[in-house]
Amino acid sequence: MNNKAYYITTPIYYVNGEPHLGTVYTSIAADVLARFYRLDGRQVTFLTGTDEHGQKVEKSAEKAGLSPQAFADQVSERFRALSKAYNLSEDIFIRTTEERHKKSAQHLWKKMSENGDIYESSFAGWYAMRDEAFYAESELIDGKAPNGAEVEWVEEPSYFFKLSDWQESLLQYYRQNPDFIAPESRRNEVMRFVENGLHDLSISRSTFNWGVPVPGNEKHVMYVWVDALANYITALGYPDSECSEFKAYWPEAIHLVGKDILRFHAVYWPAFLMAAGLTPPKRIFAHGWWTHEGQKMSKSLGNTIDPFALAECFGADQVRYFMMREIPFGGDGDFSEAALIKRTNADLANDFGNLCQRVLSFVYRNAGAKIPQPGPLTSPDQALLDQAHTLVEIVRKYAEVQALSKMCETIWVLVGEANRYIDSEQPWSLRKTDSTRMETVLYVLMNVIRHLAVVASPIIPKAASQILNFLSVPEDQRDFHALKNWELTPRTVLPEPQGVFPRIVETPKWN
Ligand code: MSP
Repeated sequence: MNNKAYYITTPIYYVNGEPHLGTVYTSIAADVLARFYRLDGRQVTFLTGTDEHGQKVEKSAEKAGLSPQAFADQVSERFRALSKAYNLSEDIFIRTTEERHKKSAQHLWKKMSENGDIYESSFAGWYAMRDEAFYAESELIDGKAPNGAEVEWVEEPSYFFKLSDWQESLLQYYRQNPDFIAPESRRNEVMRFVENGLHDLSISRSTFNWGVPVPGNEKHVMYVWVDALANYITALGYPDSECSEFKAYWPEAIHLVGKDILRFHAVYWPAFLMAAGLTPPKRIFAHGWWTHEGQKMSKSLGNTIDPFALAECFGADQVRYFMMREIPFGGDGDFSEAALIKRTNADLANDFGNLCQRVLSFVYRNAGAKIPQPGPLTSPDQALLDQAHTLVEIVRKYAEVQALSKMCETIWVLVGEANRYIDSEQPWSLRKTDSTRMETVLYVLMNVIRHLAVVASPIIPKAASQILNFLSVPEDQRDFHALKNWELTPRTVLPEPQGVFPRIVETPKWN
């Protein structure tokens, strides 16, 4: 068993609007990995939360006729509700308006300042409120940010971070830690960006006040990204860098982020940390973007997806599996109702669901509703069991590099093998001719289903737990250690099984 700490984070979500498909995606991915490593005996912390300061939130609150704090309180609750809707198992849900976070962000600032990395000047340039980012004139395309966001001209006194001084240290860090940024293509992009030279970064605003006050100058609030990035260490107890949480988990962090916010995480964040005398995180993985039936999702196009309705109508496990399986983590992908239904019916209902249903209901009805008593094993029995025993090792290799779709694929290869084994062994025809052999085949299958359910449980937690209930596997024997060290006990009484993945016959109305 490996007790090493595993720290996985999602971006903290802006509370200017409701949760959407993109936010759910990162959260599911982080949840799958957190659950996987808990089952692997690791000491896990899974962090998510909300990013509540900045001009964008202030403006949205104003529109809603609420104070920024009251507005943030309200929307932040929607993100918490998302955890419930999708069975997300975060250990910490952080809010940047918490006092402990303000203290932490201010401490980080002071450390950077003591190191001589912050100076006062004035800023004149373009600012896109939508992504809370500054742009140089040369970066604009048709008067807009490169991603299409509207920009406004900003001119105000500002503190700057000496990012330009960190170019060499960053490049050296990337070279010495080739796994720091993933996927590889994104790493190359970041390296090219840094090699091209870095400009100092404006890190305070003085024309509004919804933010963390700059230590020593209350006329300024911190640039929201400085405040936001600090959340990853606040959650571990920073500024107390001697506390047990901080010592256990920093710099073990794996930050999952969307490709659009990679620069903040892979360039600014390590530079801030190094300036404050801290080590950068272990890894930053940038995932791709989802479109909806080929189109970019946006409120103005009216094609955003309500993740609550989606989970309610199709099932949280179904959406979780679909999102993890459909596109390789790191690539872009398209969401469509048809694709979701296809995956649900093919992989979940037909393949895995049927496998469980065929075996479990046959045992319940025709083999005494008890775990069968196996006789001698044949070589096909042994071959299938061996495959089941190596499943977790292969899946673990993919988890190590956040290859989430590969984790799913690997599990479903075994589902396919198990279905083929049933077809060739035909336990139902053995019932009248060779009941010992029938019991052996059923025992092998139940064992394989147990392995499948345990290893798939990080992806489909609810269904997996139901399947393990139908197999009468005790709650404390559902981890990877138990897969090696515990066996189904013949003659254990089984409850009546139910189907876990209903086929979608009629498209539900959800949007
Ligand atoms: N608050 C910042 C993050 C601060 S982290 C210190 C932020 N918030 S956000 O709410 O705007 O975005 C959160 C995440 O959602 C980002 O990782 C972004 O990539 C992701 N997505 C937004 N739309 C998306 C898709 N259509 N598809 C996939 N992910 C997308 O940025």
